[in-house]
Amino acid sequence: LNVVVLISGGGSNLKALLEAAADPAYPARIVAVGADTDAAGLAHAEAAGVPSFIVRPGDHGSREEWGRAFASAIREHLPRGSENSEGPGDPEGAAGSDEGLVVSAGLMRILPADFVREFSPRLINTHPALLPLYPGAHAVRDALAAGATETGVTVHVIDEGVDTGPVLRQARVEIIPGEPEEELHERIKQLERPLLVQTVRDIALGELSLR
Ligand code: GRF
Repeated sequence: LNVVVLISGGGSNLKALLEAAADPAYPARIVAVGADTDAAGLAHAEAAGVPSFIVRPGDHGSREEWGRAFASAIREHLPRGSENSEGPGDPEGAAGSDEGLVVSAGLMRILPADFVREFSPRLINTHPALLPLYPGAHAVRDALAAGATETGVTVHVIDEGVDTGPVLRQARVEIIPGEPEEELHERIKQLERPLLVQTVRDIALGELSLR
């Protein structure tokens, strides 16, 4: 399965995917990394010899135009119908991986509806909360502010809402009373990285359906 990973930040989830994919036995390849800004995590792509691209919203007239430019940059690395076809009887391949997979791993920007329509359901996101609880950009802070005793991480299909798409996998984290947001987020990320690696693996092997 060919995968394009989208990031905005430090890219520790990307790094986990790159490390997993360095093993030839892992059933997915990271073919490119895309960002909306000069994300620090792009260094992980460079270190792994994976091509990357930046499409900045400021260079485009609207969110929709930015989304179209981002989508076409992704398509250069993930052309339609390019891989793993198992023949005419199985047009999408055993793993349904005909069109690859786009993984938002810390992309801190809402993808426009046209973008979502083009790639979903082969478009997934990782979110640091147990959705449907605490959607949005401040999930860890919101869980703490709500006085929650547990939170976690969700890998889900992206639909046209914000963090509303079908849940694929979740993992739970107990909140330590008084714990600072950064520490809790780091503990969440310690589960998030292997969960994302496992989810991409399961999609690649056809063990997890995106439909
Ligand atoms: C992750 O927790 C992701 O779920 C959230 O931002 C964080 C990104 O971390 N949206 P990293 O850039 O992969 O280290």
